[in-house]
Amino acid sequence: MINGNVATDKEKVFIFDTTLRDGEQSPGASMNMQEKFRLAQQLVKLQVDVIEAGFPIASVGDFDCVKNIADNIRGVQVAGLARAGQKDIDRAWEALKKGENPRIHTFLATSDIHLQHKLRMSREQMLELAVASVQHAAKYTSNVEFSAEDASRSELDFVCRVFEAVIAAGATTVNFPDTTGYALPEEFGAKIAYLMENTANIHKAVVSVHCHNDLGLAVANSLAAIKAGARQVETTLNGIGERAGNTAMEEVVMALRTRADQVNVRTDIATEFIHASSRMVSSITGIMVQPNKAIVGANAFAHESGIHQDGILKERTTYEIMNPCDIGLTSGNLVLGKHSGRHALKERVKALGYDNLTDDELNRVFHRFKGLADVKKEMFDEDLEAILLDEIVRIPETYQLLSLGAMSGNKTMPTSAVKLLVEGKEVQDAGLGVGPIDSAFRTIAKLTGTTSKLLYFAVSSITGGTDAQGEVMVRVEDEGKIVIGQGADPDIITASAKAYLNALNRLVYLKKERNK
Ligand code: KIV
Ligand code: ZN
Repeated sequence: MINGNVATDKEKVFIFDTTLRDGEQSPGASMNMQEKFRLAQQLVKLQVDVIEAGFPIASVGDFDCVKNIADNIRGVQVAGLARAGQKDIDRAWEALKKGENPRIHTFLATSDIHLQHKLRMSREQMLELAVASVQHAAKYTSNVEFSAEDASRSELDFVCRVFEAVIAAGATTVNFPDTTGYALPEEFGAKIAYLMENTANIHKAVVSVHCHNDLGLAVANSLAAIKAGARQVETTLNGIGERAGNTAMEEVVMALRTRADQVNVRTDIATEFIHASSRMVSSITGIMVQPNKAIVGANAFAHESGIHQDGILKERTTYEIMNPCDIGLTSGNLVLGKHSGRHALKERVKALGYDNLTDDELNRVFHRFKGLADVKKEMFDEDLEAILLDEIVRIPETYQLLSLGAMSGNKTMPTSAVKLLVEGKEVQDAGLGVGPIDSAFRTIAKLTGTTSKLLYFAVSSITGGTDAQGEVMVRVEDEGKIVIGQGADPDIITASAKAYLNALNRLVYLKKERNK
């Protein structure tokens, strides 16, 4: 067995993860350099084959993120996106060149809709530019991917012609995106089969697909393409991405694994890290996973009806087609208690995928853990994950919460007293509001001198029980820039203040990055 994927004689499907690029194109999901780096480390643990780290020419921040990942991450191919054209490709290479196995991913649309209205180019001009771009990229590296944007709405014979020409020019992967999420599974599979049959040199390249989920069919389309011969799928964790998102990695991987009886392929994904990776993505991006989402939704392994519960107790497979352990789900298990020591904590932290913490990081997590264990009887993996995300994937804290006291009730004027550290200086104030959260936020805004607008506020509980930690997510806007903020604490007013401050810290960080 390799990573639980039973038959090793099966052909491999490469997983090209684009959580850091297309995933980041989800509205409001921008990630900073530390967050992207932390996620890249997690993607290595998952054993993805390629990490698309970003679009280097898009901004200085994007360039720096790709460079940081290419320079420092090993054991995986790192890709950078570039439009067809020398300038984009040169910039991508500049960011990627110190990587272990860098890939230049260049793209140009093949559909008449894009050619006529967006690019104002003829098919011949498109073909010429695609070939020239691939030739240019191939001067830097032999690892070149070409994507025919909007391929699913393009004339197929033209895509075959383009693929044949770019493969001859040096492309080692050719990608057939369903950019608008328009295709239906049977149709999409047939297009891939046609491509395999009608592109003379197709065996010299890996055929890839990149599906969007506008009709909820991204995973189904990717599976149909695999059946027809595609051997790379482009995915994101939790299916995040432009508009309705991309093919969800966890779904396609678990479908291939669970229905190994029906498919002759495997992936190398270490599925036991899926759950922790999914949580990391939702915490970093602020995009929560819907409870009924396949594989990683909170209810994906929950059995509500009595008949189902009875069946599960008698024999798990009566109603479970996957073992929750296979995705690393230990939820519901009491994992650690107040008396657990540093060693037990380190082991648990490792099991959650954080196995390269420094002594200082581990000490900070241990300190937070003890503090929480004092007020919360039972500690679950989710509690520990919330601490880890807060302590490890952190951004510079211009504003830090030192203390918060809030008063509320049906006959009381809601009041909050807040003490902050603002750039190293202690400041405090108290203020009123419509409710305790409103009063806390108003006081924080006054103390920090900020005027951002709160767009969204959501509170949920991390685990069950009245002593569960509250997890708050906010979305805040300032000068047209939208950021998210997270906070967790057994006290929901404190969790809200932490989330708000986290968002304000992100805004400061973004402004500094922008000025850079
Ligand atoms: O959706 C798309 O077509 C893309 C390409 C850049 C691969 O994201
Ligand atoms: Zn896309």
